[in-house]
Amino acid sequence: MRMGCLITAGRLPQGASPGNRMTTDHPPCSASAALLVLGIETSCDETAASVLRLTPDGVADVRSSVVLSQIADHAPYGGVVPEIAARAHVETIDGVVARALAEAGVSVRDLDGIAATAGPGLVGGVMVGLSFGKAMALALDLPLIAVNHLEGHAVSARLTADIPYPFLLLLVSGGHCQLLEVGGIGACVRLGSTIDDAAGEAFDKIGGALGLPYPAGPALERLAQGGDAARFPLPRALLGRAGCDFSFSGLKTAAARLAAGLTEQADRRDLAAAVQTAITRQLVERTKRAMTAYAETHLASNRRFVVAGGVAANGAVRAGLQAAAAEHGFTFDAPPLAYCTDNAAMIALAGAERLRLGLTDGLDVVARPRWPLDEAAARLNPTHVAGRKGAKA
Ligand code: KG4
Ligand code: ZN
Repeated sequence: MRMGCLITAGRLPQGASPGNRMTTDHPPCSASAALLVLGIETSCDETAASVLRLTPDGVADVRSSVVLSQIADHAPYGGVVPEIAARAHVETIDGVVARALAEAGVSVRDLDGIAATAGPGLVGGVMVGLSFGKAMALALDLPLIAVNHLEGHAVSARLTADIPYPFLLLLVSGGHCQLLEVGGIGACVRLGSTIDDAAGEAFDKIGGALGLPYPAGPALERLAQGGDAARFPLPRALLGRAGCDFSFSGLKTAAARLAAGLTEQADRRDLAAAVQTAITRQLVERTKRAMTAYAETHLASNRRFVVAGGVAANGAVRAGLQAAAAEHGFTFDAPPLAYCTDNAAMIALAGAERLRLGLTDGLDVVARPRWPLDEAAARLNPTHVAGRKGAKA
């Protein structure tokens, strides 16, 4: 459980920016003290809380990680219904936080800070967790840390492994698909991102068309076992195109159309295998491009690759990326499965690392439905931001 990154109190890593945030009047934390932080995550369909201790030399110790999934609430609709999600977060957040504290064996008086996801995500849900975090911070006179959910995923592999900054990250989940150079907390540079759908969304929508329950990614992986991936030719978007962007909407539409006409289990298995192979191939091909670009500016001893996010739970995706890392001279890391999908331990870790740097937030911080990690890149290339003209992820 050791992490190698030493972070000095009050000093930002090179290129880091605290963002456009108000800070509280809490004094910066001492670098020589361990920090005990409560993390809260409510950006999608999991209500999660975690207590994490960050030692002075940067070792993360997850004292508890409680994740209450709402999958059963959303399953009848084939996707997450924002209003149902927000209501379920309201109903369960206090119990989930209480359980995280009890399992960690700590009292609220032991905490040094409260970290809550402030975006991006379904804004109703984000508001629930952030408001709960603000109330706790106010009542206990503790610093509040508003955490970008993507920064949580970015640090998630550091929960259990010694992965110093910088590293190359593929963040691949139901809502996001991007390649980032992670220079440290607040210092992410985007190398590429999806121009339409996220990989997890493609898994979910195609799996739904195959009759699999939501979220369909894990079920599609099981269905694909033993299937003939070569039987159904599928579009290969952006193949050979320069850059590190992704595109999955053509694949999603073509495969969903094919799925609608299949009745035999063997045919469905072959299509699932073809889809998993096509998604893996694109993730690997674009990641190899990013590795080549990254290697131009990083010494061989600094070539570390991390894959994080829900789709990193997929065995074929992991294996493909692991082989690419070996081929390009990168180390390979992926968080344990429980920290690939949404959880609050990663929010607590991002929060604790921010707290150690003095990056705290005022109680006026707002929930953000969209919040790119690399805001400069998003401004320069708005087609990657959002909306009808650009990427959904
Ligand atoms: O990170 P996550 O929990 O939530 C987001 O922030 O989006 O990722 C959830 C996504 C879903 O699309 C789910 O289908 C996908 O991760 N996923 C998988 C697997 N496990 C989860 N996709 C493919 N294979 C899996 N084994
Ligand atoms: Zn996520």
